Amino acid sequence: MREGQARADLASNAGARGGDLALQAAAQSEHPAIAAAARAIAAHKDVPGALMPILHAVQHDLGCIPAEAVQPIAEALNLSRAEVHGVITFYPHFRQTPPGRHVVEICRAESCQAMGGERIAAHARKKLGCDFHATSADGAFTLEPVYCLGLCAQSPAMLIDGVPYARLTPKRFDTILGYVKEDA
Ligand code: FES
Repeated sequence: MREGQARADLASNAGARGGDLALQAAAQSEHPAIAAAARAIAAHKDVPGALMPILHAVQHDLGCIPAEAVQPIAEALNLSRAEVHGVITFYPHFRQTPPGRHVVEICRAESCQAMGGERIAAHARKKLGCDFHATSADGAFTLEPVYCLGLCAQSPAMLIDGVPYARLTPKRFDTILGYVKEDA
C-alpha cells in the first residue's frame, strides 16, 4: 500500500471497525514510520494515556520517533500534531533521529555521582568525542544520560544496548566498549 493512502486511511478511520482494518493495512506500509505507528496504535490505542506507550513502542521499534509518525498518532488519539510533538520533545528519552549502532546510557543519579559518575561521564564524552544526546562521528555510539538503574550498590553504572555494567572505572569503560564494538 502506498504511504499516502496508508496514512490517509489510518487518519480517517482510526478508532472504528474500519479503523482496525486501516491499522492492519497501514502496518504493512512500506514506510517504516507509518507501519510502526500503525502497529503501536493498534497495540495501545485502547489503554488510558495511550500516547506514551505508543511513543515508547515506536521508538523501541525504530530506535527513534520519525516526524512521519507524528500525524497518524495525533489523528488516532484525536490530538494535534503540536501536542504529540510537544510530548516527544519534552522527554529527553525520545529521539527524533536514529541513534548510533550502540546506545551507551550512563547513570547520572546521586549514588553514581557520589561514586565517581562524573569522572565516568567526562571520560565517556572524551572517548566518544560527543556530548550526551549525541552520536560519535563514526556512528558507533550514542551517549545518553539515565537516572538510576537500580545498581546503586555497585555504582557507578551504565547500560549499553540495555545490558547493565557496574563498578565502572575509565579503564573498565574502555574495555567494555572494545568488547561491544568487536561484537558488532
Ligand atoms: S544512582 Fe546510579 S544506579 Fe542508582
